[in-house]
Amino acid sequence: MTRKIIIDTDPGQDDAVAILLALASPELEVLGLTCVAGNVPLALTQKNARIVCELAGRRDISVFAGCDRPLAHTLVTAEHVHGKTGLNGPVLPDPTMELQDMHAVDFLIETLRSEPSGTVTLCPLGPLTNIATAFQRAPDIIERVQEIVLMGGAYFEVGNITPAAEFNIYVDPEAADIVFKSGVPIVVMSLDVTHKALVTKARNAAFRGLGNAAGIAVAQMTDFFERFDLAKYGSDGAPLHDPCVTAYLIKPELFTGRFINVEIETKSELTRGMTVADWWGVTDRAPNATFMGTIDADGFFGLLVERLARLP
Ligand code: BDR
Ligand code: CA
Repeated sequence: MTRKIIIDTDPGQDDAVAILLALASPELEVLGLTCVAGNVPLALTQKNARIVCELAGRRDISVFAGCDRPLAHTLVTAEHVHGKTGLNGPVLPDPTMELQDMHAVDFLIETLRSEPSGTVTLCPLGPLTNIATAFQRAPDIIERVQEIVLMGGAYFEVGNITPAAEFNIYVDPEAADIVFKSGVPIVVMSLDVTHKALVTKARNAAFRGLGNAAGIAVAQMTDFFERFDLAKYGSDGAPLHDPCVTAYLIKPELFTGRFINVEIETKSELTRGMTVADWWGVTDRAPNATFMGTIDADGFFGLLVERLARLP
């Protein structure tokens, strides 16, 4: 059975790969892409989302622009990782498909109200501003969400934008707090997982070797952010974060984790945006999220290559 998803995103090269994987996979029906400010400002994330749809040959996908800033803080962006456009690396044409008129938050609310309850999964790949705003504005939709599978947070890897916080949660911790307290079943693809999904030279060559536009673009995208990440982590290759979300929806057996309590730090200057994950079960706080810790990286990259091969 196909699973209906809405991808909430701030492309971002790794967001782009996550979207391409979803669009190449018959198990997933993408109801729309809702864009948010994150890696780069909203004007660029909504444009990049359309560029990615066109790269996949999917001009039929509806793309919506959402919130242009976090709930309570000034926007923090990540051009130092993703480049000035957010999608630096390949040279891709400006999109000609239209941006939808409707606001992304209205689309989230309308879709969750009109689809049968429990049949729509949300896939946030950026700051959680759109999702939290929809939940605040229309609390009736919360119980209608099937599941939220998101990229964000960390426990063992702690932080990538500050010593204590992962980027997506750090940018809008108040939004993350609302989402983690919502009661919706949540699966978290944390840095503990994504830092094991490294684009080694051989994996990059496999993308390029596909020879199609999507495969070559993905190789060029991962080449680009690798420069920054290799210098930072000194590892074998750069982590490919967001595609872990869409890969999980296709092949959950690639990942393992624990159902635990996760709280978001919103108060402290020093640790703002930290995901306080009770991995060792040392509190009596109720579990609210399945926090992933391992990935079968070869299986994950195998899936990516197999699926990207299906695209133009
Ligand atoms: C997350 O932050 C962004 O830079 C990436 O797109 C990913 O969603 C990783 O911390
Ligand atoms: Ca992202």
